[in-house]
Amino acid sequence: MKSIRDLDLRGKRLFLRVDFNVPLDRGRVTDRTRIEETIPTVRLAADTGAQVICASHLGKPKGKVKPELSLAPVAVAFAEALGHSVRFVEECVGPEAEASVRNLEPGEVLLLENLRFHAGEESNDPEFAKDLAALADLYVDDAFGASHRAHASVVGVPGLLPEKGAGLLLEKEVRELSRLLDPQRPFAVILGGAKISGKIDALRALARRADVLLLGGGMANHFVRAIGLPVGRSLLEEDKVPVAREVLDLCKKEGKTIALPSDFVVAASVDDAKGARTVGISKIPDDRMTLDIGQKTLEQFERLLEPARTIFWNGPMGVFEHPPFDRGTKALAMLLAESSAVTVVGGGESVAAVNEAGLAEKFTHVSTGGGASLEFLTAGTLPGIEALQ
Ligand code: 3PG
Repeated sequence: MKSIRDLDLRGKRLFLRVDFNVPLDRGRVTDRTRIEETIPTVRLAADTGAQVICASHLGKPKGKVKPELSLAPVAVAFAEALGHSVRFVEECVGPEAEASVRNLEPGEVLLLENLRFHAGEESNDPEFAKDLAALADLYVDDAFGASHRAHASVVGVPGLLPEKGAGLLLEKEVRELSRLLDPQRPFAVILGGAKISGKIDALRALARRADVLLLGGGMANHFVRAIGLPVGRSLLEEDKVPVAREVLDLCKKEGKTIALPSDFVVAASVDDAKGARTVGISKIPDDRMTLDIGQKTLEQFERLLEPARTIFWNGPMGVFEHPPFDRGTKALAMLLAESSAVTVVGGGESVAAVNEAGLAEKFTHVSTGGGASLEFLTAGTLPGIEALQ
């Protein structure tokens, strides 16, 4: 895989795939981390005299123009982070986009409109990829967070342009996450998040790679059910319980430690903060749902993580966006921040917890990719990385 540093960018039109899929609240970017992490690549390209054409997706508009998912407000935050003006065009292909690229001077930066306003992005339509590739001479991927998606801008466009390489952020992510492919042991993995679907391959692969597997969030409910205990009204994908059973068997067979929460914070719903109480794993009431891990679980996790020399964490331990059910996730962030192990965190809400607590500096690596970091640890590569080789 070539680096952006190996490419001759001077006077060239550069298609730079970035992951500006950032959280928005009423038209304002609420977390700029992904934008800021890409700035060194954009600066390098602009300072070398490239015409920098940035392209990203935002949300899941499913091939339709959805004004609330326009990248226009992101262009404002991008310009602020760059400390330099950024042009924005309300299309990503066609005459309007082509005219904007023609007007771009060397060193100038343009942001195209949301790629997913076109269905061809997600379906990796060859015609759509061709239209995107027609805008540029060279391709650089800095969108680590989207590199697990075999979409047109991730795998189609690099196949059509003669020169391609990895941006500085993508290189950093691959370097840091590669350390976890051959980790210093004991290697502990903490998996949370609401759902188990979408994480099944990762769960199986990490159960094999890790020495200790700790589970929280909605993910843990499946394991509680798999050992024959009731989960009340908790979030559960019933058809995925056999996967949990399979992982429990695998860990037993290979002599690995797998830990479920020993207690949970339960309530009638996420809005029932007043009704929140802590119960043991075998005492989840029929009319309550698990919304966070309890204090005993945190102490249990602390003990199990103590000897670890490498720790990877993906997914919150509870319904992080609804206090007081954010406590377990925040406490876990503190615990890892104090650890002397190599600590890597990936995934929107777990990273948000780390950032909100101002703890990012205390982690070895905070990944900009949630699904992407999990998939990288599962397969050791990603479609977007393969497309650059
Ligand atoms: C992410 O936020 O994980 C990436 O931007 C990928 O987004 P997606 O899950 O909508 O493909």
